[in-house]
Amino acid sequence: MADNSINELDVFFPRLDPATQKLGMVISGSLSKGLEVKLDPGAAIEDIAVGRYVIAEGAKHRFFGMITDVVLDNTNPQIEKTPPDVSDPFLREIHTGTSTFGRIHVSPMLVLDQEADEPRPVKTIPGHFSPVRAATEEDVNLVFGPEDDQHFHIGEPLDMEEVQVNLDLYRMVERSVGVFGKSGTGKSFLTRLLLAGVIKRRAAVSLIFDMHNDYGWEVQTETRTSVKGLKQLFPQQVAIFTLDEESSRRRKVRPDFTVVLDWSDIQPEDLEMLRTTLDLSDQMIGAAYSLRRAWGRGWIKQLLEADKVDIDALVEGSTLNRSSLDALSRRLERLSRFEFLRDSWKGDSAQSIIEYLDKGINVVLEFGRYGNSLEAYILVANYLTRRIHQMYIERVERALGDAAQEPPQLLIVIEEAHKFLDPQIARQTIFGTIARELRKYNVTLLVVDQRPSGIDEEVMSQIGTRVTALLDNERDISAVFTGVSGASSLREVLARLDTKQQALIMGHAVPMPVVIQTRTYDADFYAAMGLQDKADLKASRSDRVNLLRGEMEEGIE
Ligand SMILES: Nc1ncnc2c1ncn2[C@@H]1O[C@H](COP(=O)(O)OP(=O)(O)OP(=O)(O)O)[C@@H](O)[C@H]1O
Ligand SMILES: [Mg+2]
Repeated sequence: MADNSINELDVFFPRLDPATQKLGMVISGSLSKGLEVKLDPGAAIEDIAVGRYVIAEGAKHRFFGMITDVVLDNTNPQIEKTPPDVSDPFLREIHTGTSTFGRIHVSPMLVLDQEADEPRPVKTIPGHFSPVRAATEEDVNLVFGPEDDQHFHIGEPLDMEEVQVNLDLYRMVERSVGVFGKSGTGKSFLTRLLLAGVIKRRAAVSLIFDMHNDYGWEVQTETRTSVKGLKQLFPQQVAIFTLDEESSRRRKVRPDFTVVLDWSDIQPEDLEMLRTTLDLSDQMIGAAYSLRRAWGRGWIKQLLEADKVDIDALVEGSTLNRSSLDALSRRLERLSRFEFLRDSWKGDSAQSIIEYLDKGINVVLEFGRYGNSLEAYILVANYLTRRIHQMYIERVERALGDAAQEPPQLLIVIEEAHKFLDPQIARQTIFGTIARELRKYNVTLLVVDQRPSGIDEEVMSQIGTRVTALLDNERDISAVFTGVSGASSLREVLARLDTKQQALIMGHAVPMPVVIQTRTYDADFYAAMGLQDKADLKASRSDRVNLLRGEMEEGIE
């Protein structure tokens, strides 16, 4: 401020004290409905926004709360009928804050006490006339924890650019995680940020079924610019596996491994997942199980190559239904267009993935052109996850509770999650099993979806941390609040998010629900992850050269 002269009016009616940031005092309220706070004359009502954080200083505790409403009030309702003459600024100031005043409604969320390490849930409220002030950076940091070995900066609370919201990633990966939001709201960007955090903090190793090439080497954005994938940020800690070598090569990606499956890798259990996508009936699935009993693991290839005579012989004297067999065969024929399915393939892709994960290397499996085929995505994600989960169970059981012998915590990332977890299949499938068994075998899910209402309710209630960008469908909004208490005020918050780069985070990884402006995924972020850009590298190299030269010259002198 250039003008330092004291405004006369300010002496009588002080502005919000920048040192204390005092807003007003508690005048009434209840634990269930929240606190009523009368604003001080100096607190400009238009600067006070819903969603901001405040502290009410009680006699014993400090209460952390969120402003959920802003109200104009007065001491005498007569003033609404006969407003004073406000053309006189002095009169206006006299009334403002005395006979008329602002009031805010505050929902208390947590108790912050210096002696306790962690914020605690509120069980009482501050007394009458407790002072209320805007929360400072320090207060908010007390709530979300500093960024440390376990916490990761994911964004800022709305209107608080200087404050970081830090997620507890270790807690996050202990249970399954959901990233929701309609198309184009930033789900893939959020997921990439979360995964970068998990890699950076070594909270888990991830296996990412990357449907649209969003995570590996380089990512095309909506505006046709490109951003760096995880492999560029963490070259030593990320491996790119591909199902489509040609597509990878075209995008100038050098994959670490090309995934091939053998026809005999596909079993009736995998087909259960494809029920809707391949339009398979109960009879057809039943036929698949019978075929495996009759022919063993190579049943699909044998069926596809069987001629009429073979089929006749099989049906003869069995309970198999000819038309289901034919229909099944026609459906399976559709899979033959996938070049990653081979005959008599001796490799073991699941085993190769496990070998990388064991070394703490995260695996991004790119689908390339097969990303457009839901059949391929579901088939491959299901097959590999079933195998890897089985290996995890065996190893965790063998470790007999010795944590050092157990395999590393694994986070499996799937998109279009409702296709894997819809109520009809969630009970039988591997992904439903993983979501329900919690962390028993050190495997959890990160599901990305734009239609959370399609996910089985029981699975949804097991999703510990939910990161939700804008949703506008009522059923989807209800779905993400499954099992969340006090969801009604949050529904309003969710519906008011920007269309991009904002999200509501709630659950296991945060002490209270919070709306964030998502951290921007750009060069600053790369640098924070430890990636030096080329110009920097060059500069530091020439610094070193100059330094060396200087030292040599000094030596000569
Ligand atoms: N954190 C962020 N940093 C930078 N840009 C972002 C961020 N979040 C979103 N964007 C912008 O928004 C666009 C859409 O984001 P994104 O691709 O993640 O959406 P989506 O929800 O995954 O969409 P879809 O459902 O179509 O896959 C991005 O291309 C990017 O330009
Ligand atoms: Mg996306």
